[in-house]
Amino acid sequence: MRILHCVIPAAGLGTRFLPATKVLPKEMLPVLDRPAIQWGVEEAVAAGAQKMVVVINAGKEMIQAHFTPQPQLEAVLEARGKTEELRSVRASDHLASFDWVHQDEPHGLGHAVLCAAEVVGDNPFLCLLPDDLSVGATPVLRQLHEAFGQLHTPILALKRVPKEQISRYGCATVAETRGRWHRVTRVVEKPGAGKAESDLAIMGRYVFPSSIFPALQRLKPGVGGEIQLTDGIAALLAEGEVWGVEFEGELLDVGTPLGWLETNLRLAAKHPKLMV
Ligand code: UTP
Repeated sequence: MRILHCVIPAAGLGTRFLPATKVLPKEMLPVLDRPAIQWGVEEAVAAGAQKMVVVINAGKEMIQAHFTPQPQLEAVLEARGKTEELRSVRASDHLASFDWVHQDEPHGLGHAVLCAAEVVGDNPFLCLLPDDLSVGATPVLRQLHEAFGQLHTPILALKRVPKEQISRYGCATVAETRGRWHRVTRVVEKPGAGKAESDLAIMGRYVFPSSIFPALQRLKPGVGGEIQLTDGIAALLAEGEVWGVEFEGELLDVGTPLGWLETNLRLAAKHPKLMV
C-alpha cells in the first residue's frame, strides 16, 4: 500500500532557539537557500508523499505563506527577466498539496500528531519532524516507507547514540534483528540516567497506522505534562508489532543554534555555489 500523507508537526515553541524564534517560526530559519521546513517537505516528497498535513499554531502563518503562490513577487521577477529566481520561488508552491491544521496550545508532539487525525482519516501516514534534515543517498523517510512496504507495521527511525546522551531521546528496546531492521519491544521517553535499556534513540521520522489516533486520544499527559508521541507508540506495541530502521545516512539538527550552524557549514561545503 502506497502512503500519500505526511504529517509535519510545526507548532512547537522553539525555545532552544530564542530569541531568534520570538516572532520568526524556527521552521522558517534558512538553511542555505531555503527555510528548514522546505527541506522537510522535499524529503517527504522524495519518500513518496504527495499530501502534506502541516500542524501549525497562531503566529506560524508565515510557513503557510511560503508554500502559497506570491503573484506580486512573481510578476516583478518575470518583468525583470529573473528566470532562475522565479523558478525557485514557484518550486515551493508546486512541491505537494498542503493541508494546514491548528494546534491551539503546545500540549506536546503526540497532541500535535493527533490534530492531523481528521485530514489523514483511516490512512497510514508518514510523519516528519522538521528540526532535523536528512542527508545521504536515500532520504531517511524513504528508508522507513520502504520498510513499511514489506513489514506493514508502524516503523520508527533509530540511531545509536552514546549511552550518556540517550536520556535526551525516546529509547527503543529491540529483540529480533533483520539487517538494519529491528523489532521493537519497548519504548521509553527520555529514560533517566543509567536507566536506558539500549543505546537506540528514536529519531523524528515515522510511519504510523491510523490506529495511533485513538491511542493518542486515550493518553493522559506524560513526561513534562505533555501528550507524548512515545506513549502513543507504546500503545501501538500493545496492539501488534512495531519495527525500527537503523537508518543509513544522517539526520542533521537545525533546531538549536549550534546544530543549525554546523548543518549550514556541512551543507555549504558540498554546495557548488557556496563552498566555504
Ligand atoms: P521539539 O520539542 O523539538 O520542538 O518538538 P519545539 O518545542 O518547537 O522546540 P524547543 O524544544 O522548545 O526548542 C519536535 C517537533 O514537534 C513539534 C515542533 O514544532 C517540532 O517540529 N511540536 C512540539 C508541536 O508541533 N507541538 C508541540 O506541542 C510540541
